[in-house]
Amino acid sequence: MSGTKIILGVTGGIAAYKAPELVRRLRDRGAIVQVVMTHSAREFTTETALQAVSGRPVRSDLWDPQAEAAMGHIELARWAERILVAPATAEFMARLAGGFASDLLGTLCLATTAPICLAPAMNHVMWASEAVQANRRLLESRGVQLLGPDIGDQACGESGPGRMLQPEAIAKIIAGPVAVAETAGASLRGKTVMITAGPTLEAIDPVRFISNRSSGKMGYSLASAAAAAGAKVLLLSGPVSLPVPRGVECINIESAEELHTAVHRSISNVDIFIGAAAVADYRPAATEPNKIKRVRTELRLDLVRNPDILASVAELPRRPFTVGFAAETEKLREHALQKLEQKKLDMIIANKVGHGVGFDSDENAVDVYWKNGQKSFPLSAKAALAGDLIELIAERYAANSSSAGHGTRPAIAIRD
Ligand SMILES: Cc1cc2nc3c(=O)[nH]c(=O)nc-3n(C[C@H](O)[C@H](O)[C@H](O)COP(=O)(O)O)c2cc1C
Repeated sequence: MSGTKIILGVTGGIAAYKAPELVRRLRDRGAIVQVVMTHSAREFTTETALQAVSGRPVRSDLWDPQAEAAMGHIELARWAERILVAPATAEFMARLAGGFASDLLGTLCLATTAPICLAPAMNHVMWASEAVQANRRLLESRGVQLLGPDIGDQACGESGPGRMLQPEAIAKIIAGPVAVAETAGASLRGKTVMITAGPTLEAIDPVRFISNRSSGKMGYSLASAAAAAGAKVLLLSGPVSLPVPRGVECINIESAEELHTAVHRSISNVDIFIGAAAVADYRPAATEPNKIKRVRTELRLDLVRNPDILASVAELPRRPFTVGFAAETEKLREHALQKLEQKKLDMIIANKVGHGVGFDSDENAVDVYWKNGQKSFPLSAKAALAGDLIELIAERYAANSSSAGHGTRPAIAIRD
């Protein structure tokens, strides 16, 4: 991030007291930080503190002739290479979603071509409200990246998802490839990473199918984190309603058989394979050509087993570094270790699913296992968790590639 010009927007939530710490963490990584505060943010932190830590005068007023004479709002919007709003209030998310240019920060967000990230922070009931979630979806569909929120104890005395991610976690995600390279001693620059994500749909007839509750959020977050770590990322995705992360190539598939074909069509150039898709184990033995009519009192579906995509990748003679997911409702460790061994994987990420955990939620907690090693990651936002997982995968990939006699491709193949 050395020399990266960042506008840090600070809005009026309690978490604004963490903004000076966030400025420090960004500047530690070499960023040039220009703080822009909303008027409400002044109730929670001071301009003096933010000016002292950023080393630059804080901007907050759209109608400030002196500031406009120095660097007008349009120049400031052009100057920024990234805009990060942390904390982002429910109110600010609504203004941004509505395209309002009623204050300096909102105007800058409209007038910039730089990527925009928000770290929302609010009471968990506010966060779950339909209006906030609709704004979140709208912003994400326009390419705005949301970091968090985290879950845990809140200033209001309650607990749940809505807390701002910690400044260090935000800075780490924003720093992307540099952070991965610094902390893991290995980046993914020059590597090709293939990630499968989302559910598969197994057709019963032209209008019905068998599927599962996977939202694709974990796979998409991993794709985003791998791209940020410098990798060329190929995402093979089942049907989900998520925007394709910046810099990621995406191929859409529906069924497990389509996914199997798509994986093997491109696998020969892949250095790291991450199987995060929830692939249906079984599909209907036959797909009816016409819609099944409601005439019989009982209807039986014959199912046949789908190809095991993960195992088929791990079995390749010159296989990529192969990472699988074990989504289990019980005996997590036992089943994950069994899968690691039986499918001869390099690494397995085990997560508990069911009852609002794992699938279709914004948070996840996982245990990662590999030969002679393991690491646990506590419940956290999928975006933050994905960064940590990609860092660990990069580290293990580098270690495996340098150890003699391993079947994975060597790490020295730098593509142009
Ligand atoms: C004590 C207090 C704490 C607040 N904390 C939050 C918060 O954490 N998140 C939020 O979205 N709004 C919070 N609000 C409401 C916002 O301050 C309010 O919506 C304001 O208009 C936001 O303005 P801004 O987005 O322009 O900064 C809080 C209000 C008060 C009085």
